[in-house]
Amino acid sequence: MIRIINNMKIVRNRKDLINYLNNIRINNQVGLVPTMGSIHQGHLSLINQSVKNKYITCVSIFINPTQFNRTSDFKSYPRSEKKDLKLLKKSGCDIVFIPSTKDMYPKKIKIKKIVKKYRNILCDNFRPGHFDGVVTIVNKLLYIFIPDFVFFGEKDYQQLKIIEELIKIKKINTKVVNCKSIRDNFGMSISSRYNLFNKNQKIKFEKISNIILGFVKKIKNGKKFNIERNLCIKKLKDNGVKKIDYVEIRNNKTMSKSKLTKNSRLFVAFYLDNIRVIDNYLL
Ligand code: PAF
Repeated sequence: MIRIINNMKIVRNRKDLINYLNNIRINNQVGLVPTMGSIHQGHLSLINQSVKNKYITCVSIFINPTQFNRTSDFKSYPRSEKKDLKLLKKSGCDIVFIPSTKDMYPKKIKIKKIVKKYRNILCDNFRPGHFDGVVTIVNKLLYIFIPDFVFFGEKDYQQLKIIEELIKIKKINTKVVNCKSIRDNFGMSISSRYNLFNKNQKIKFEKISNIILGFVKKIKNGKKFNIERNLCIKKLKDNGVKKIDYVEIRNNKTMSKSKLTKNSRLFVAFYLDNIRVIDNYLL
């Protein structure tokens, strides 16, 4: 069954979606924004790019169990369907797809290792199986929607590179549109996980953001990376960051480690209490 609110269709099952899209795709191009919900400004900017181009704009909301390497993380992931639908209605999105786990994984919850490039670095070293889960679900979504364009934010840069590789390997006829990060007032890329911050953590996060932004500025101004990195790590620890997964510069294209700032990005991942924060900055 398809529910329609303000011209936005809410579809909860894959068969209905495929039937509906098949009828309208003949005269239109389809844009897909895959999400796990908790819609924020970052998602809205991706949706806006699709709407602006007059594509049939589709948003999927599915909290994909196979990409969480800890059950507790999956269980505590923010869920806010009502609020999401309100925001999506205003965004100009045409179709929201909210499938059940059974619909996305009808046989067994199984993950496939499809992409091997851009692996064993950054988040892959700290979240085993995460990218196989992401690739498995994005692959399924691409086969369901067959979108002309799929939109991803640069905040999850490694994910973006891995999805580009998936599309190349599988020869999928979809163009990846990578979109700049949307940053909060402190300069950090907006993330759904920040909905989990309590008041105290928000205050801590502001201080931490200042430290990171200060560090990025110094690197951009040509200061020595290793020295500044150590200083930054010390400051983060002094301000309550207990676990830092990585602080690295990597080449924008190849993702190999680099010291040069040309064509490079600084990648960071750390925990504020039990909430994981990742971000990257073009240098
Ligand atoms: O970036 C995300 O929100 C997720 O990894 C994605 C791409 C929607 C797959 O579940």
